[in-house]
Amino acid sequence: MEMAKVSREMIENQGVDVDQLIEILVKNASAELTTFYYYTVLRNHLTGIEAEGIKEIVETARIEDRNHFEALIPRIYELGGTLPKDMVEFHNISACPPAKLPDDPTVKSIVEVLLEAERCAVRGYSEIAKITASGKDPRTYDLATAILNEEIEHEAWFEEILTGKPSGHFLRRGETSPFVSKFMR
Ligand SMILES: [Fe+2]
Ligand SMILES: [Fe+2]
Repeated sequence: MEMAKVSREMIENQGVDVDQLIEILVKNASAELTTFYYYTVLRNHLTGIEAEGIKEIVETARIEDRNHFEALIPRIYELGGTLPKDMVEFHNISACPPAKLPDDPTVKSIVEVLLEAERCAVRGYSEIAKITASGKDPRTYDLATAILNEEIEHEAWFEEILTGKPSGHFLRRGETSPFVSKFMR
């Protein structure tokens, strides 16, 4: 039986290129999972007593990016998409450049890498929200805007650290992904 026939049709009838949408979702899922790995390395290199608090912020962003990966996968399959069999291939189609540890890492240079990664994510989910908006694909739109809400917060956290300007946010305590958790049940 054909997967997701009616769900796909409804979206196609709205003028959305579903294959292209699936491709974008897979590339962003890759960006999330690779980010989870790269953030693990970056977080561990935030050494020294003054970086201890930043570690905790990076950890929250890291876990939430993994949550974004988890939340995207069911939607990709629902739309009839698949994931590459090969992990290396999956890594290399990422929508964002790898958030690699800088040579001679410092707290500042690491946070700059983190900020660029979050900005790439903000661009990606803004694009998905645009493609799916106005009733074209309500479920993907809802997911993309939930993730976007968290990416905007991540960007604001690292901007605050770099610039000293307030983000207006407070470190999450306990639960992560206030926006995306409903897609992970
Ligand atoms: Fe993310
Ligand atoms: Fe993020």
